Amino acid sequence: MTSELSGALTLGKALRAAAAQLKAAPTPLLDARILLKLASGLDDAGLIAKSDDPLPAEQANIFSGLITRRASGEPVAYITGIKEFWSLEFHVSPDVLIPRDDSECLIEAVIARRAKDEAYNILDLGTGSGCLLCALLEEFPLSVGTGVDRSPAAIAIARANSQRLGLAPRARFVVGDWAKALEGGFDTIVANPPYIPDGDRPGLRVDVGYEPANALFAGEEGLDAYRAILADAPRILGSHGLMVFEVGDGQAEKLVEMVTKTFPEAETSTINDLKGRPRGVLADRKSFAEKD
Ligand SMILES: C[S@@+](CC[C@H](N)C(=O)[O-])C[C@H]1O[C@@H](n2cnc3c(N)ncnc32)[C@H](O)[C@@H]1O
Repeated sequence: MTSELSGALTLGKALRAAAAQLKAAPTPLLDARILLKLASGLDDAGLIAKSDDPLPAEQANIFSGLITRRASGEPVAYITGIKEFWSLEFHVSPDVLIPRDDSECLIEAVIARRAKDEAYNILDLGTGSGCLLCALLEEFPLSVGTGVDRSPAAIAIARANSQRLGLAPRARFVVGDWAKALEGGFDTIVANPPYIPDGDRPGLRVDVGYEPANALFAGEEGLDAYRAILADAPRILGSHGLMVFEVGDGQAEKLVEMVTKTFPEAETSTINDLKGRPRGVLADRKSFAEKD
């Protein structure tokens, strides 16, 4: 047990001591609370109600171990094995990227352009934990979807998440190199591919270093995965199709240019995340087709 958490502490004091140990993390108190819930088996209400109760020695030991892991940079989601996305619970491991809240703007962009009572054929390229595909299948109950990833371990996790969420009957998961082995016919395609330039690797936060490199890096400018996907996109996206990409900081303008070249007839626009930054680019072929 580390010195800060040793001794007979109440739950409340253990929580504050752990948060102080995590002061270098972006959200110390939140992280400490999640890990104390894991160590104690209590929920938020239980932590408040038992704040003045002593933390049993065995739980203090477990908590101390979890805080040490977090203090060394390991992401909370890899420690707990769980991350919420679109109010759904996803199991995660270091084989998959941890779903980011920012990516929810991709789901919102699809919802804004699609009718919930229609049946779509959705494709999620680089599905990882399966978070984007599962969120879309949850929102569009008549639709079916395919998730593709090059990593067999990621595909196993995505499939298990779809089963846990009751979405498996409408979801198919395939190991593959983007869409190369797929037949076309998709009307809604989402992709959050790797987009960090290789040269940015040394400057990344310590916790990002725990995530799989093949989920993060995409060549000198971070654009290699977009190029590979767009090379196949006209073949797999239907004539009324919608394609939505997540983009990294400073990449939106370049991707709009690339997408416009690929789909000159489509309406192309950027998508902002919750903080108002461009986080996505979409191409909507439907508006063009409707003018015919
Ligand atoms: C940034 S992660 C996105 C994961 C998930 N969609 C999300 O939003 O959290 C990118 C994913 O693309 C996958 N990937 C990388 N190269 C690929 C390729 N050539 N073909 C298919 N998937 C690939 C990685 O394994 C990783 O799971």
